[in-house]
Amino acid sequence: MSRIAYVNGRYLPFPQATVHVEDRGYQFSDGVYEVCEVKDGRLVDEPLHMRRLQRSLAELKICMPMSLAALRVVLRETVRRNRVRDGLVYLQVSRGVARRDHAFPPAGTAPSVVVTARSTDPSVAERVAAAGVAVITVPESRWERVDIKAIALLPNVLAKQAAKEQGAKEAWFVGKDGYVTEGSSSNAWIVSRDGKVITRPADHGILRGVTRTVLLNVLKAQGLELDERPFTVEEAYAAREAFITSASQSVMPVVRIDGRPVGNGAPGLVATALRKEFHRYSEFV
Ligand code: PDD
Repeated sequence: MSRIAYVNGRYLPFPQATVHVEDRGYQFSDGVYEVCEVKDGRLVDEPLHMRRLQRSLAELKICMPMSLAALRVVLRETVRRNRVRDGLVYLQVSRGVARRDHAFPPAGTAPSVVVTARSTDPSVAERVAAAGVAVITVPESRWERVDIKAIALLPNVLAKQAAKEQGAKEAWFVGKDGYVTEGSSSNAWIVSRDGKVITRPADHGILRGVTRTVLLNVLKAQGLELDERPFTVEEAYAAREAFITSASQSVMPVVRIDGRPVGNGAPGLVATALRKEFHRYSEFV
């Protein structure tokens, strides 16, 4: 079965699903995106993803390409046409097509919209989670507005590749101050020796992950103590547990940081429990 993409009003087989050479997403990375998990055929925490999308668009002064209701129909239709039961749906909105010129195109230029969906195998994810993943640390090299989910991801791409080349799953960015900001495509968490769950506040230094937002509710419900503050790489090395969160990985235990075992080198109890509980607190619509 050929995969189907939604491109500017049409559902097209991948070979025909193309964008214009002067699309500003292609030319300038002038656009935003969202990745939403699909579980049992339903979108996970879609309202929070849509809210973040609207915020990202507003920050970049790109208008909503269609009504929220219409966008939600397109997401579902793309999931349906690709027969995705468990997987991911990807949405990208760029500032549209215009003659190449850095400044914004004329008012009224229609934003471009692309939606794709793909299946993932939940049993593979569970196997990865049971073993835990390795992360490396890399110097923070991104712009200051990483709170906007912009498609400009070159530093993230380079960081992820560095991780891959070192046999790790994720790279954590570390600021000049020695504090971890977040992963190349995930938020970063540790559990201290005294059992506190520590993650950086969602200021301009990180993306406010939807998984992160929902997990804060899980922590509260589980009676776990949250310490929302930045943590250093040294603290992470000495932590009892570490984990990462994202729509594509849910809660993923981290068992090695820069080659050093975290805790006893196996997925921690807190991370494992949070992973198990997570979807009970998600909104399925
Ligand atoms: N990544 N930080 C960054 C830099 C991210 O790219 C992501 C998401 C997150 C976690 O956000 P959320 O919990 O809303 O997925 C944090 C998506 C999944 C991606 O790029 O594929």
